[in-house]
Amino acid sequence: MSDAGEEWQVARRRKGAARRSKSVQVCSESENCQELLDVGKTVKRIRDTVSELKCEDLWLQWKEQLLLAGSASLSNPAEITDTEVQLGGSRDGRLCQQLECVCYGLGSFSSCVSARFQLAMLLLLLDAGQIPLKDCSVYDPAFSSGERDVLKELGLTVLAENEEGKRLVTKPTLFYLMHCGKALYNNLLWKNWSTRCLPLTIIIGNSFSGMRDRMIEREFKRDYSYISQAVSVCEERQLPCPSRLIDVFSDTAVITFPTSSLNRLPQSTWVEPPEPQYHHCPDLEIIQRQTQS
Ligand SMILES: C[S@@+](CC[C@H](N)C(=O)[O-])C[C@H]1O[C@@H](n2cnc3c(N)ncnc32)[C@H](O)[C@@H]1O
Repeated sequence: MSDAGEEWQVARRRKGAARRSKSVQVCSESENCQELLDVGKTVKRIRDTVSELKCEDLWLQWKEQLLLAGSASLSNPAEITDTEVQLGGSRDGRLCQQLECVCYGLGSFSSCVSARFQLAMLLLLLDAGQIPLKDCSVYDPAFSSGERDVLKELGLTVLAENEEGKRLVTKPTLFYLMHCGKALYNNLLWKNWSTRCLPLTIIIGNSFSGMRDRMIEREFKRDYSYISQAVSVCEERQLPCPSRLIDVFSDTAVITFPTSSLNRLPQSTWVEPPEPQYHHCPDLEIIQRQTQS
């Protein structure tokens, strides 16, 4: 596995002094990172990881599933006109031409091999879906300033605000949330809780049914009510993960929300859905926005 092979066993921050170059970044102490990050070198490493991943069977299967998910949103003839226009009118590889992408919770890809592989997979998916890099917004409160520079150098749009996952979709949007906290998914579902927005939403992230199976039912319904309702009506296509990449891509699915299934939920669910509060979650897995005092 090229240079990543060594780090694979030891997925931790590198201690070696970084070489100084024009693109060297100094991370601020406030970001809990005292290293120098060489933007050029990090970009090259990511591109090498992309090349490595491209040779894996895994990649072809992921690509196929993404394109399938795109066409699934066109499978209902009643939806074709509107959605097809928004998707660019083609059922082949160009299907996703008008897709946007939002990636939350990637993690510190300069120091963590898993996050770097996930970033490489994101770049491959954007390429497969012909989603322009600038139409992909990324956010993680854990990013250092150097990492934000690397992402900008790659052409991605780095968000400055913590949206807590509460992003309203206005067009078909792929959300890439790898191993993220359940509250992030729940917030995303809440913000788009309508039969108009959910069918425009494609999630590549942790399986909702896996979340349900791992939680006590009563707490799952209480704390993550939108996931708990969505789990019975969404379509999940499990994505393959070879054992050597288990820490990177395990328990991941493509999740879509076909209109016909959403219509099975009681109409009352769509009326003024309350914003999630998480009062009962002492170990909330996401970082919330700072409240103004
Ligand atoms: C369990 S880690 C997963 C990291 C990486 N994707 C992986 O699989 O190793 C969850 C990530 O979510 C990020 N996160 C927490 N709150 C967030 C928020 N409000 N918006 C976006 N990302 C958030 C954390 O900083 C962390 O990097």
